Amino acid sequence: MHVVAGADHGGYSLKNELLARLRDQYDILDLGAHKCDPDDDYPDFSAAVAQAVASGRAQRGILICGSGVGACVVANKVPGVRAGLCHDTYSAHQGVEDDDMNVLCLGARVIGVELALEIVTAFLKARFSKEERHRRRLKKVLAIEKRALTKTIADSN
Ligand code: RB5
Repeated sequence: MHVVAGADHGGYSLKNELLARLRDQYDILDLGAHKCDPDDDYPDFSAAVAQAVASGRAQRGILICGSGVGACVVANKVPGVRAGLCHDTYSAHQGVEDDDMNVLCLGARVIGVELALEIVTAFLKARFSKEERHRRRLKKVLAIEKRALTKTIADSN
């Protein structure tokens, strides 16, 4: 599985620790930050990771900032991305199984590395269940996304 990851200065250290422990099991693309710069901005890394997932370059994305909130807000602006902020293992796998979540967001100032690793592992091992009710709900999510996109295009003309 191709996994893309990114973090601002708030998530820089946790990203590096997690990726070091995931590299032997997954094909990891690290889109930065590649140094800890307190002046960097989470939207830059979140957009890059979200676009990599939306384009199919990676199947899953991992985003880390201080709280995970900013990263999640940005990622969900990119069509095709379903990002969730999960600080527990249940949400991390259930979000994939039921909601087809494809980007996991974490807050490095909220959890420690061992719990983060368990959450990431639960996320990466989970698969969308494809049960009828979950397909139906996903279809509704995609229809909402499509309506928003169509409106944006119409408004710009
Ligand atoms: C950066 O200091 C911090 O605001 C950012 O990492 C994140 O927590 C935003 O949601």
